[in-house]
Amino acid sequence: MAKKKSVRAESSRNGYAGDTVPESSITSVMVEDRVFPPESGFSAEARVKSIKEYRRLAKRAAADPESFWSGIAEELTWFRPWKNVLKWKPPAARWFTGGRTNMSYNCLDRHLDGWRRTKAAIIWEGEPGEVRTLTYGQLHHEVSKFANVLRSLGVKKGETVAIYMGMVPEAAIAMLACARIGAMHNVIFGGFSAEALRERINDSNAKALITQDGAFRRGTEVLLKDAADRALEGTPTIASTVVLRRTGSDVTMAAGRDHWWHELMASASAVCPAEPLDSEHPLYVLYTSGSTGKPKGIYHTLGGNMVWSYYTSRMVFDLRDEDIYWCTADIGWVTGHAYVVYGPLLNGATTLMYEGAPNWPEPDRFWDIIERHRVSIFYTAPTAIRSFMRWGESHPRRHDLTSLRLLGSVGEPINPEAWMWYRNVIGGDRCPIVDTWWQTETGGIMIAPLPGATPTKPGSATLPLPGIDADVVRRDGTSCKPNEGGYLVVKSPWPSMLRTIYGDDERFRKTYWSNYRGWYFTGDGARRDADGYFWIIGRVDDVVNVAGHRLGTAEIESALVSHRQVSEAAVVARPDEIKGNALIAFVTLKAEFTPSPELKEELRDHVGREIGHIAKPEEIRFADALPKTRSGKIMRRLLREIAVSGEIHGDMTTLEDLSSLEKLRDGEEE
Ligand code: WTA
Repeated sequence: MAKKKSVRAESSRNGYAGDTVPESSITSVMVEDRVFPPESGFSAEARVKSIKEYRRLAKRAAADPESFWSGIAEELTWFRPWKNVLKWKPPAARWFTGGRTNMSYNCLDRHLDGWRRTKAAIIWEGEPGEVRTLTYGQLHHEVSKFANVLRSLGVKKGETVAIYMGMVPEAAIAMLACARIGAMHNVIFGGFSAEALRERINDSNAKALITQDGAFRRGTEVLLKDAADRALEGTPTIASTVVLRRTGSDVTMAAGRDHWWHELMASASAVCPAEPLDSEHPLYVLYTSGSTGKPKGIYHTLGGNMVWSYYTSRMVFDLRDEDIYWCTADIGWVTGHAYVVYGPLLNGATTLMYEGAPNWPEPDRFWDIIERHRVSIFYTAPTAIRSFMRWGESHPRRHDLTSLRLLGSVGEPINPEAWMWYRNVIGGDRCPIVDTWWQTETGGIMIAPLPGATPTKPGSATLPLPGIDADVVRRDGTSCKPNEGGYLVVKSPWPSMLRTIYGDDERFRKTYWSNYRGWYFTGDGARRDADGYFWIIGRVDDVVNVAGHRLGTAEIESALVSHRQVSEAAVVARPDEIKGNALIAFVTLKAEFTPSPELKEELRDHVGREIGHIAKPEEIRFADALPKTRSGKIMRRLLREIAVSGEIHGDMTTLEDLSSLEKLRDGEEE
């Protein structure tokens, strides 16, 4: 306790030191007073059975975090025990120092001795409808072989492997094979463009690329190898690629560089003992948006990430052997890392992977999957839930969803209407909902209900997990009063915290550790209610959540500006019923060009090519000039107001040129 107090005192003395926290305070207007206690039947069977028990656990973890964390870590296999649970010199954390372990071993080999050898590890369904099941024994076999394939291509411990695939079991196999030999994986979402892929490959110095011919999506094919070929024109570090044949369409194979997955696997040995790796050995880098143009390579290391994926899956999803667990996230996002692959496999659970779109061939595909596979835990995103609502109740109503026992939500604040719909229509008023708050940076869930213990309130992620020291604070570091909006921080280290931004320690320090000395700044606004429940308001920086994907507006702006006709661009978000946010781009053209509807389309396509379709602005508005401060900073706040209401009410005293605004407000300049 004494230690904690001194951290806090120091922080408030130094107070606000950084520049990520914006000037205005945060006002939260949401009022929601419905409370849903867990059903007694669920609680009786759950790992944590009451809120009292949760509080006891949380208290124990706060009083002696190190013994709490080591107690969890001991449930997994270590080849050599650690010396120290934690070495903490803010912002540098080292967990389970000197310990040796292996993620792939803990996900696979650990389950092979007993009956789980023949249990389904992955149930996969392709979009066209085929189903494949890989038992733990089979998955281990495939992973061991692919680990040998990677070695045969010259991939060494500590080197980076890029993975650019759709939702196929081989994507999980590739990740686990990297982890087995100690290569760091860099999974790049299959919806990203060649440009985005190239940038991420280069930033991470990837030595090999694993991809596939194409992926099925909404009845058509996403040409992954094609995009990879374009990316590889500018990636000097890539020596070889492995291409999975999925769709069977024609691809170009570069001699000496490109290899077919099935050909290499045919001759690979299935004997590949898991490499004993240091706890702080790299596990993965995963790129996420920041408030400046360049994506941030969030860097995670083995021991802490493994312990946290294991523990959180167990506690939050109350995972057990009988479950068929389905997380709908793509493995190109952090949710896919922690809760499609690692978390469930560490727990010996059955994880379902689905390749395609939720509305293919019909808007009931998800419910059909749940019914046929008897899914018991379903974890998805608010944007998906809002789409389901729009498509209508008749689709889920046509299916037997009684196998479900628990529902989860992640990626953005879930609005209470969507929460209630999820509970009533999908959960049959019987399943607890776990709304899980976390980030790529945190490596795993941080704030969420324990389903058998925590009474839930629609729209709140409820309480921090035992061991997580979260708070909502003002700019000066003092804690906010109940219901006062402020900044979400984490005041003590946790095992799966990001270790740095790959190759950029300075940016790491500045982004997360400069606002509050010694505390992790999340970039989110939040408030706590009188019961201590957390209500996340959203990002406070220039990062927006569109359909559950976190996009940096700066990245989209730089994509727009890279078009030869564009002079300047500013991208802001407007609330959108389905996607959470829609992107509106304000664009000024170079003098010699004139606005046209065709150019709008061209610019949208251009962003699609540069970043990916998820980043395409919903709307493009041309302007003669953008509103700027005297120091030349674009005033996004004003643009946001225009985008949302067409009106401006806020303070305009810092604005350079008022006339620019008048024109914008008057709307369409075409
Ligand atoms: C937002 C996804 C409210 C938040 C795991 C965070 C949420 C960002 C929630 C991280 C939630 C995620 N309630 N907001 N349950 N979950 N967010 O890195 O703004 O893709 O900072 O990680 O999503 O997005 P990321």
